[in-house]
Formats: sequence, structure tokens, C-alpha cells
Amino acid sequence: MATILPLPTSPPILDTELPFPLWRRGKVRDVYEVDGRLLVVATDRLSAFDVVLPTGIPGKGVILTQLSLFWFAELASLATPHVVTADVDEYPPALRAHRELLEGRSMLVHKTEPLPVECVVRGYLAGSGHKDYRATGQVCGLPLPPGLREADRLPEPIFTPATKAEAGHDENIPFTRMVELVGRARAEEAREKSLAIYARASAHAEARGLILADTKFEFGMRDGRLLWIDEALTPDSSRFWPRDGWTPGRNPPSFDKQYVRDYLETLQWDKRPPGPALPAEVVMRTREKYEEALARLRGPARDDGATAAKAAAGDRGHGATEATGASSVLSE
Ligand SMILES: Nc1ncnc2c1ncn2[C@@H]1O[C@H](COP(=O)(O)OP(=O)(O)OP(=O)(O)O)[C@@H](O)[C@H]1O
Ligand SMILES: [Mg+2]
Repeated sequence: MATILPLPTSPPILDTELPFPLWRRGKVRDVYEVDGRLLVVATDRLSAFDVVLPTGIPGKGVILTQLSLFWFAELASLATPHVVTADVDEYPPALRAHRELLEGRSMLVHKTEPLPVECVVRGYLAGSGHKDYRATGQVCGLPLPPGLREADRLPEPIFTPATKAEAGHDENIPFTRMVELVGRARAEEAREKSLAIYARASAHAEARGLILADTKFEFGMRDGRLLWIDEALTPDSSRFWPRDGWTPGRNPPSFDKQYVRDYLETLQWDKRPPGPALPAEVVMRTREKYEEALARLRGPARDDGATAAKAAAGDRGHGATEATGASSVLSE
């Protein structure tokens, strides 16, 4: 399991310049090619409305990396993670000179050929899923019951793939389109794995007072096998809602970038680059939310009535297991 590292108090890391071939600079991660593998470095960059903001969140890259490593280890039986190691002592010697930067915020991973599709699972109606439903009564071609409100729980979790747009926003696609893009066997395998991970992760989160409303996975091919790549179930890739604050019909406060989005909505910004700088208060509160998500999700299950009642009602899967082991004290 991931070790608990002290989170940095130093200024945010916005860019890295390591002496290795840069394989890709994503919105959040800088990826280098090292000895035939990839070194994924999570920076402290923050994107909102798909625009990388000029202000970073100190330590965010460490929090995202630690949370991803936690989930990869916890759920490895459901999909093989791409991680080779996140222990700098096990990195190639040339990398160890950069320990100060890399420790806690990097992982050495298998290089894969990423599927050109984001594998999204939704258990609740929010974001672009809610938007599509309002317009068509469907999400990615999947018909849903009429009368659902924003943030409503869906009858069952649904797999709603999206294309990875090189620029701009991802676009929801029907599963048949995903089959055309990656082939039926691969598409079915990715869907099955995504739904299995969502089921286990959402039960885990719920036992800790958090609803996993939706989440996005990436998979890549290596030697004919599908690996679980990129990040795993972080506030950047997922909507986590505190169970206490969840009321269907309203967009709940969330652990993702709600403070940032709320602040940005007060400005006259047209959501196109360049994005505005964030005030210190928003930076601090955002960092606290990321930290809280990490602490809650890695912490013990909460032994409260709701979880116990759910288990007693025979809720299938991980939730029941969590509840029976939930004798530990509250983590907060
Ligand atoms: N094991 C891997 N093999 C190949 N590519 C990988 C692997 N792990 C991650 N990647 C790629 O590295 C990049 C990571 O950058 P980042 O997470 O910032 O991505 P992004 O696509 O720009 O943003 P977002 O995740 O918000 O869509 C992504 O393009 C991802 O597909
Ligand atoms: Mg990504």
C-alpha cells in the first residue's frame, strides 16, 4: 500500500524539465520516456473547463499520485494497473538524481498504446450525462427512465464512453461507435472492467461517506493485453459528493473543483485560454478538499447507521463487506 508522505508546503510545481525525451505533456501530467518505460509526473497544474489555469495547487500532484496508487493496489484484481514502481529507489539510476521532484508525485509505468476512448461510468446523473439526458432522454444512446433529476441515482451504473478530443471537450459516443474504434472484444473488455472497478470503488467510497457519482478510466494495450493506465479514481477524474450534502434535483457540493468553478463563475471569463489566476483563499480551500478526499478514501470505513442498514438490506458487493468490517472509528 502507498506510504503516507508529508505533503509539500513549497510552491506549486507547474512545469517539469527533466533531461529525458518528453513523451507527452498533458493538462496535468508530464510524461517522459525512460529506458522503454514511461515516467508519469503529476504536476500541481489545475484545469477547469478544460483550460489549464496559471495558478497551481501546491501538493496536488502528490495527492493525485498517492490516491491513484492506493486504488491501483486495492483494485488490481479487477484490472491490471500499468504501474511498475513508484519507489524512487527502484527507478533507473539516472532518475534518482531528481528524487526531490519525483518522490510522491511520480510513477514508472509500462508504456502502452492508449485506447482512443475515455471509459466513463456513471452511477448518478450529472455533468454532460445530465445535459444529454435533458436533451434526448438518453446518455450515449442508452435510454433512461423518464423524470430523472440532476444528481439522481441511476437504476444501475452505466458505461458511457467518450472520444478523447485532441483539443476542446470530450464527446460522448454510443458503445457501437467505441466498437468501431477499438474492436468488439476490446470494447467489451474495457466496459466490463470499468463497471467492475466502479462497483467496488463506489461501495468503498460510500462506506466512507462519499458518493462516487461518476468516473473516467483510461486503458492501453501492451503485448495484446489491456492495462489500466493514467490515474485512478481521483477528484480530477471523478465526481465525489459528500453523502450528507446529496439532494437529488440539485448539483451537490463536490470534492472536485467546486470552489474553483464557483469562483470562476463570478468572473467575466469566457472559459477560453488563458485562464485567470486564482486567489490564495481558493487555492487553500481547493488543496484542503483534495487532501480530505485522500484522507477519507484511504481511511477506515465509517460505522454509521446508513452503511449498516444498507448491508442489512442485502446490498450486493463491496459495500456489505465494508460495513461488516466497519468497527473502526471515524477518520475525521
Ligand atoms: N501507461 C501509459 N501508456 C501510455 N500513455 C499513458 C499511460 N499512462 C498515461 N498515459 C497518457 O499520459 C497522459 C497523461 O496526461 P494527463 O493526465 O495530464 O492527460 P490529459 O489527457 O491532457 O488530461 P485529462 O486527463 O484531464 O483528460 C495522457 O495522455 C494519458 O493517456
Ligand atoms: Mg489524464
